[in-house]
Amino acid sequence: MPNHVPTELRPEYPIRTERLLLRPLAIGDVDALLTYRGRPDVCRYVPFEPMDRRVIDDRLAAGWATTTLTDEGQALTLGAELARTGELVGDVVLFWRSREHRGGEIGYVLNPDFAGHGYATEAAREMLRLGFDGLGLHRIVARIDERNDASAKLARRLGMRQEARLVHNEMFKGEWSTEIDFAMLAEEWPAHRDAEQGR
Ligand SMILES: CC(C)(COP(=O)(O)OP(=O)(O)OC[C@H]1O[C@@H](n2cnc3c(N)ncnc32)[C@H](O)[C@@H]1OP(=O)(O)O)[C@@H](O)C(=O)NCCC(=O)NCCS
Repeated sequence: MPNHVPTELRPEYPIRTERLLLRPLAIGDVDALLTYRGRPDVCRYVPFEPMDRRVIDDRLAAGWATTTLTDEGQALTLGAELARTGELVGDVVLFWRSREHRGGEIGYVLNPDFAGHGYATEAAREMLRLGFDGLGLHRIVARIDERNDASAKLARRLGMRQEARLVHNEMFKGEWSTEIDFAMLAEEWPAHRDAEQGR
């Protein structure tokens, strides 16, 4: 396990997991992205509103075009496609929050049509792997609205520990949100990196 100040992350794509291929999002993904990122229920607890085609186009041209992490403050968003069929099932993100503290954060969004198979867990685990084994991070967090049960279950499934409950921490989409914070340290990662896929 690397124990160094992070320098950069330059993955080779696609990244293969048991059932998925992770790779940068592309213009050909717009329709698939619209089908889930355009849905109010999917966006209920994430920090963006349902997206239309123009917003998705803008993201593809800007933030989602990032394929490497070279400095803190950057985020790597990858699409997760089913290796078997090529369908885009969702997307995952790794934020590099701090170079000095070697800190990162993960996020994940899944098309509900593909829920309940462990795909989001499988993709998110790969982002932990990129953060710890690739970038040499020391600590990776997930910040979740307390009402978002599916997301909290996923963080626990990854082996992340709940550390904090911040009551009415943010005004989120017009109401106070209580945030629960999950974390994993680099020293905890080896016990979880080879977890049975998805579980
Ligand atoms: C959060 C979110 C990604 C979770 O989706 P999910 O389908 O529950 O997660 P997974 O794809 O990992 O699937 C896990 C489920 O599949 C089941 N499953 C079936 N086969 C499985 C396998 N091989 N491996 C793991 N889980 C499997 C699990 O038991 C679990 O079901 P359960 O919650 O009923 O126990 C999804 O609800 C979502 O995209 N929400 C909207 C966006 C969002 O809120 N993102 C998080 C912001 S903090």
